[in-house]
Amino acid sequence: MHLPRPAVVARAPGRVNLIGEHTDYNRGLCLPFAIQLATTATIRPRTDGRLRITSAEAPAGDAHWQEYVVGVVVELRRAGWDVPGLDVVLASTVPLGGGLSSSAALECAVATGVAGLLRIPLDDGRRRTLAEVCRRAETDHVGAPTGGMDQLASMLGAAGHALLVDFADPHTPATRRVPLPVADDGLALLVTDTRVRHALADGDGGYAQRRRECEAGDPRRTRHVRTENDRVGAAVEAIAARAWGRLGALMTASHASLRDDYEVSVPQLDLIVETATGAGALGSRMTGGGFGGCTVTLVAADRADVVREAVDAAYAARDWATPVHHLVEPGPGAEVLSVGG
Ligand code: GLA
Repeated sequence: MHLPRPAVVARAPGRVNLIGEHTDYNRGLCLPFAIQLATTATIRPRTDGRLRITSAEAPAGDAHWQEYVVGVVVELRRAGWDVPGLDVVLASTVPLGGGLSSSAALECAVATGVAGLLRIPLDDGRRRTLAEVCRRAETDHVGAPTGGMDQLASMLGAAGHALLVDFADPHTPATRRVPLPVADDGLALLVTDTRVRHALADGDGGYAQRRRECEAGDPRRTRHVRTENDRVGAAVEAIAARAWGRLGALMTASHASLRDDYEVSVPQLDLIVETATGAGALGSRMTGGGFGGCTVTLVAADRADVVREAVDAAYAARDWATPVHHLVEPGPGAEVLSVGG
């Protein structure tokens, strides 16, 4: 006899970081928000203790991404959760390796689904715990030395809000939701995917190298961190005052610092930022770890198309593959969509 195995469906979003880059692993400040692009995990318990993972989007023949799911389950068990064997089916609208935290969305969707399965309600305290579990899955299990911003954004995001995170105490980061009423003031947030892919899980890659340089006290790298923290503070004030021009200028200054002091930009990111600001955007910057990925641009809603077309034309002039644009809004964090059925 087969007993029905109720499925839990959970969803966790990707994120855009508005400002505060490469600060999370440097005890600094960042200001990400959750976006509409998300990963959905459908989870059923198994009685044989095994973990079976399938995904519609994952590249065939590459099982590396499954390690993120295994890592979450291992870390949840280590945290004392009684996680049974699972069938996990994943579907995602977050571009893989595209700088919008596809990995955090994946980890947080699985963790949230398991919480649903175990009937554990998610208050902010538990959301913080799950963010930490997911971060450890990534750093200790997959070996990507990332900093924790992405998982917090995915777990604690709220519609209409960015999340100010202070990593002064890296193991218990302080968070505060900051209203971000851009749409009310006729503005849009345009994310542009360079189509250049990055890999943060590479121990020899630039991301890991920047971490080591900061630990060693490299003056140019730490100058970026110091000035970036100041810019996050100023950005929070600008947002509260609805001084959008000021916020835009801080974003563009952040990009210059990431390009010149931190050296994590690439020509595609620089071209998008220059073209967008040249076409009338209030500000633009790379978002995420860099070496490819996406930009985020603050622009008057009725100029978004002009900026988009200018960027496409600049890309075409260099014979680069057309970038992909997404208009994003700060959306809700991870949630259980349904239990049973
Ligand atoms: C990646 C990491 C984050 C953070 C950013 C840079 O997105 O996953 O932890 O370090 O890069 O701000």
